[in-house]
Amino acid sequence: MIIKSLELADFRNYENVKIDFSSGTNILYGDNAQGKTNILEAIFVSATTKSHKGSKDKEIIRFGKEEAHIRTILEKDNAEYRVDMHLRKNKSKGIAIDSQKIKRASDLIGMLNVVFFSPEDLSIIKNGPSERRRFMDMELCQLDQIYLNSLSKYNKLVVERNRVLKDLFEHPENSVLLDVQDKQLCEYGSVIIKTREKFIKDLNEIIRPIHSKLTGEKEILSVYYEPNVESDEFEKKLTASRKKDIYSKQTTVGPHKDDFSFIVRKNPDEEGIDIRKYGSQGQQRTASLSLKLSEIEIVKRAKKENPVLLLDDVLSELDSNRQNYLLNTIGNIQTIITCTGLDEFVNNRFEIDKLFKVTEGTVSSEN
Ligand SMILES: Nc1ncnc2c1ncn2[C@@H]1O[C@H](COP(=O)(O)OP(=O)(O)OP(=O)(O)O)[C@@H](O)[C@H]1O
Ligand SMILES: [Mg+2]
Repeated sequence: MIIKSLELADFRNYENVKIDFSSGTNILYGDNAQGKTNILEAIFVSATTKSHKGSKDKEIIRFGKEEAHIRTILEKDNAEYRVDMHLRKNKSKGIAIDSQKIKRASDLIGMLNVVFFSPEDLSIIKNGPSERRRFMDMELCQLDQIYLNSLSKYNKLVVERNRVLKDLFEHPENSVLLDVQDKQLCEYGSVIIKTREKFIKDLNEIIRPIHSKLTGEKEILSVYYEPNVESDEFEKKLTASRKKDIYSKQTTVGPHKDDFSFIVRKNPDEEGIDIRKYGSQGQQRTASLSLKLSEIEIVKRAKKENPVLLLDDVLSELDSNRQNYLLNTIGNIQTIITCTGLDEFVNNRFEIDKLFKVTEGTVSSEN
């Protein structure tokens, strides 16, 4: 799958821009704050309907404007598709594929798969559980409609349940609502827990050889799912924690509290160390890189096609070994890379198919 072109109107600092990408390696370079990341963000939005930064639509629309447009032309299986997105300040976004409006934003999912890699991703193991859940959710939501729908319903329910818990003192009659919400939480929560279980199982097969190569066969990396609650015990535990939840005014049990651990071993028989807590910074960064690289393979397997790889300023963060590994992995995947300067390493290592200079919300092709 490749992105042939991207057209933006009133998106972030772009008034109007059209970019024709190569199916190989594309480089966007320019000084800070010129709009490089904004281009990758636009691609991410047209793939997932959401910003990689979690920005709201009204923040994405150009300052002083009411709406923004993104048009993406894709090619997959020798057919071309046009995805149009219309972002509005206080309304949900409109989306059309080949001029056919789609009803729900989630119907777009799977049309375009991207793997977005930013320097913060290298901290995914060092950071807290919410970052790791976000990683898993972003991936699963791109690949699995049922998961996407269950997660969005589940998250809404948690917010609603917490609101009921907060107001319960003044509205004790609302406690019947909790019974209904608990049932629904279990229904959607179980889907989330089971899907995550399977995801981590598949991830292990993929991440192990990658990590082994990245560390020169020195480390064996395993990932373990740490569900806050097992799916068949969810209902029971939710009931048991009701008193505590009322007291603390929040839902304390459920997959919104999940985590997963990263265990590194030198040989298969030893217990290994949990690198979230005991890993060196380098170990944490390398395992995070393994995790991101696994994402490419996960999409390939699930979709039977290559994702588009978006590398936001990430190469300068890696030593030359890791850079090499990353660049070798890219192979024949369409890649869009941002960087501030065309340093020597960029010129030497890359086969640059297309080079773009980004200046104050304009993009000019240099070859
Ligand atoms: N809604 C918006 N409307 C107009 N401009 C915006 C909006 N949101 C962000 N910007 C501008 O976009 C610019 C940032 O763009 P971007 O993050 O793409 O920069 P960059 O080229 O990636 O820089 P760096 O190299 O520092 O990462 C900022 O100058 C910011 O003011
Ligand atoms: Mg940037």
